Amino acid sequence: MNIGGLKHIAEQIVSPQKGILAADESSPTIKKRFEAVGVEPTEETRRRYREVLFTTEGIERYISGVILYDETLRQNAADGTPFAKLLWNRGILPGIKVDKGAKPLALQPGNKVTEGLDGLRDRLAEYKELGARFAKWRAVIDIDEHNVPSACAISANAHALARYAALCQEIDLVPIVEPEVLMDGAHGIERCEVVTSQVLERVFVELDAHGVLFEGVLLKPNMVLPGKKCPQQASVPEVAEATVRCMRRFVPAAVPGIVFLSGGQSPRDATQHLNAMNAMAEYPWQLSFSYGRALQEPVLSTWRGREENVAAAQRAFHKRCQLNGLAREGIYSAAMETA
Ligand code: 13P
Repeated sequence: MNIGGLKHIAEQIVSPQKGILAADESSPTIKKRFEAVGVEPTEETRRRYREVLFTTEGIERYISGVILYDETLRQNAADGTPFAKLLWNRGILPGIKVDKGAKPLALQPGNKVTEGLDGLRDRLAEYKELGARFAKWRAVIDIDEHNVPSACAISANAHALARYAALCQEIDLVPIVEPEVLMDGAHGIERCEVVTSQVLERVFVELDAHGVLFEGVLLKPNMVLPGKKCPQQASVPEVAEATVRCMRRFVPAAVPGIVFLSGGQSPRDATQHLNAMNAMAEYPWQLSFSYGRALQEPVLSTWRGREENVAAAQRAFHKRCQLNGLAREGIYSAAMETA
């Protein structure tokens, strides 16, 4: 393990004004997103869509890394340049989703565990050859009104995240550790804070037990939010305060950055929440973004698979990147949305 190299990559990803574009939707997930805007999901439409994102002028000012899916890491731009090289040439680090998805956890009704550890060492070696410098593994934690998540599910997911992170660091890839507590359901913000706290506490115990270097990981958590179906929604300051309290209690200061997922928040909400946290105080870690939907929604709904919409879709993408870059510094304002 090259300690200096891992720290350098992690710090580069969370450098000022910058964050991550999560463009690692699996083929079944991107199919859903495409069908919502009337695009036929083929290998070529997926390739073209990712090319529209990656060739948007000026995004390198706000985007330091892009998480890719296996298929995308093997695809090229129209001129034959591999996507990984195209990103490298723009000063953007390619990353790769390496988990194989969340499956039902045996004997734990309603709970899931993420699979993909078997053969991971060999897959990581190939991904590094192909140009990746960081990886992502997503654990999914659901909340219901009864006993979900169980302590067993939290522990199994934390253990898998730690085994994944250790395998990444062994080969000098920075692991993005993503324990996502879902915002589906009717629970209140207090329940989300309790569950997120339990999950983060367990994750760092397991990372430590597996010898993972905290200075060479990035944490990708959910923000602390009420469930989408909860009648009592929270204000921007409430979300920011609960999220920061939770991170301060459970994320070691040695971790260079926390890169939040958007998790189904609107693009505007995700930007406002990140901005409020960064405007409130100074922290031991950088607070940044690793958004999928919150960066891509306006791009997809503008593009709709049509070449004549590419320029407008790229403008919409650049704007979202820029606004989140400003939110990184706590200097975004809602008026900028319409400017
Ligand atoms: P969202 O920002 O859409 O939640 O996606 C982030 C991600 O990478 C999920 O694994």
